[in-house]
Amino acid sequence: MAKENRKKVRTIRLGKIRDKRGNLSVIEDNKLLPFTIARTYWVYDVPGGESRGGHAYHKSEEFIIALSGSFDLYIHDGKEEQTIHLDRCNKGVYIPAGTWRRMQNFATNSIALVISSTPYSPRDYIRSFDRFIQLKESNAL
Ligand code: TYD
Repeated sequence: MAKENRKKVRTIRLGKIRDKRGNLSVIEDNKLLPFTIARTYWVYDVPGGESRGGHAYHKSEEFIIALSGSFDLYIHDGKEEQTIHLDRCNKGVYIPAGTWRRMQNFATNSIALVISSTPYSPRDYIRSFDRFIQLKESNAL
């Protein structure tokens, strides 16, 4: 992979091992993802109309998948915003550190799987969008 593409938001397709007994997809450390996996968590039972994860990180890189159902991933890199609809459990989005992201418009019974490059640390969070933009504009993020 070209170095300049490593730290950009991008969709990554996972392989699908087809089987008449049911399909299987896999993510193995240091293959496919541009980071080493430190943590995995999932968001579920999201009531209609709620959004989750409206913040950015100083250090964490992530890979987000709709393991079940669907939701929209809103992303802002400090200059441009985009919304990516996730509705396949073999497709996810790589999000580099220093990116504002939010999960919204969850369909009933959806599960958002988040794979992260760091252990949980409240200090890694940037929870104010204004602060995020400030940090981006001053190249501190
Ligand atoms: P948070 O990331 O703040 O979710 P959201 O941005 O959607 O509100 O996490 C919600 C709560 O869960 C918060 O109190 C911290 C806790 N939490 C952990 O303890 N470990 C984790 O790895 C994560 C992601 C959250």
